[in-house]
This record gives sequence, C-alpha cells and structure tokens, in this order.
Amino acid sequence: MDYSVSFWNRIARRYAASPISDLDAYEQKLSVTRNYLHPEMKVLEFGCGTGSTAILHAPLVKYYHAIDVSPRMVDIALEKIEAKPMPNLTFEVAALEEFVAERGAYDALLGLNILHLMNAPQAAIEQVFALLKPGGVFISTTACLSDTMPLVRYVTPVGKWLRLIPRVQMLTFSQLLDWLQHAGFVIEYCDPPYSKHHSGFIVATKPM
Ligand SMILES: C[S@@+](CC[C@H](N)C(=O)[O-])C[C@H]1O[C@@H](n2cnc3c(N)ncnc32)[C@H](O)[C@@H]1O
Repeated sequence: MDYSVSFWNRIARRYAASPISDLDAYEQKLSVTRNYLHPEMKVLEFGCGTGSTAILHAPLVKYYHAIDVSPRMVDIALEKIEAKPMPNLTFEVAALEEFVAERGAYDALLGLNILHLMNAPQAAIEQVFALLKPGGVFISTTACLSDTMPLVRYVTPVGKWLRLIPRVQMLTFSQLLDWLQHAGFVIEYCDPPYSKHHSGFIVATKPM
C-alpha cells in the first residue's frame, strides 16, 4: 500500500525543526486530552511523527505505545528519549492499517494530524473502534481541507505527482463526525476547524 513513506522520511528532520503553527490551539488540545488520560491507561498513538506529543502524554498513563509508518520520524522520536529514557513509552515503525493487536487492547487511541493523510480514513476509524475497550476514548485532530481550503483539491494531484506533498484526503468535519458515529462512537467533545491553520479536534468514546 502507498503510505507516502518516502515523503515522510524526506521531510522528517524539517518537520521536527518546524515550530507548531498555533501554539495556543495546540496547548488547548493537550489540556482537553489530559482530562481523558488516567494513570492506569494503555494508550496507542498512530502517526506519532517525531513523538513530541507522545513524550508529553506518556507520564500521565501506564503504558504509551506510539507508531509511525516513517522510520526517519521514529528515529527522531527515539533520539528525543535517548538521553532521558521513558520506560512506559515505546515507539515502533508501523502503519495503522497493518498494526496487529487484540480487539479491545487499548483504553485510548490518539490520531493527531493523520486521518486526512490515510488511504481510507473511514476504515481507520473502524479499526480504532475495534482496538478500543468498551468505554475507551479516541482523540483526533484532523485537517478538514474541504471546509477550510476547498481549492486545494485542484492542486493536490499535481503536488502528489511531483512528490511535493503526501496523499491528502479532502475531508469535511461533518463527514468525520458521521464516520465516527457510524462506527459506533459517541462524540464527547468537538472543536470544529475555523481557519486554514486550525484542524478539527474530536474526542469520541466507545460505549460500554
Ligand atoms: C502530519 S504528520 C503528524 C505527526 C504528529 N502526529 C503531529 O501531530 O505532529 C503525519 C504522520 O503520520 C505518519 N503516517 C502517515 N500515514 C500513516 C499510516 N497509515 N500509519 C501510521 N503513520 C502514518 C507520517 O509518517 C507522519 O509522521
């Protein structure tokens, strides 16, 4: 399957060095996320990139496993914890679509800035639902380009062909909410995208 791995490998160092575009919004999302994390939890983050968010959240839970399809991204994540290892935080090179775990293995899944980059986001949401325990929580941040930058659809095929961008889905926020509810999730919290720099943020739970 095409996961745009070569693109993510190529930009990994630049991605690691680039500042967070909206620090206030990022901190607000961290803060809301922390309300759902507890010390006994087993957490999986997919598309973890260079591990910055995983490193912040891991101390709050029992076990935090972070996966990313790009080996270069994971290398950088591992470098970050080399000097100060975190025993309950593990990184692995893996695509969510090929990640093997028991159904109901996790208390929480995080997918941050990733669903819009996946080949089949709706199938990914269903996979997340299966990986969660009843009562588990899915926390996601997703660029909803059809809402915030609709004209981008005309340039993405060329950008992808020139290898300047990865595969990108033109999602809407309401489509994401529909897919989550269709999978069986209950929406607990949502913050719709309001500008091209702002992604949609959703907390959804799997009913008991
Ligand atoms: C935009 S970056 C987001 C990184 C991080 N979550 C963040 O918010 O900064 C997207 C990341 O998802 C990874 N990725 C893309 N498709 C993936 C997939 N199918 N499974 C796992 N990781 C994937 C890429 O390698 C990249 O590191």
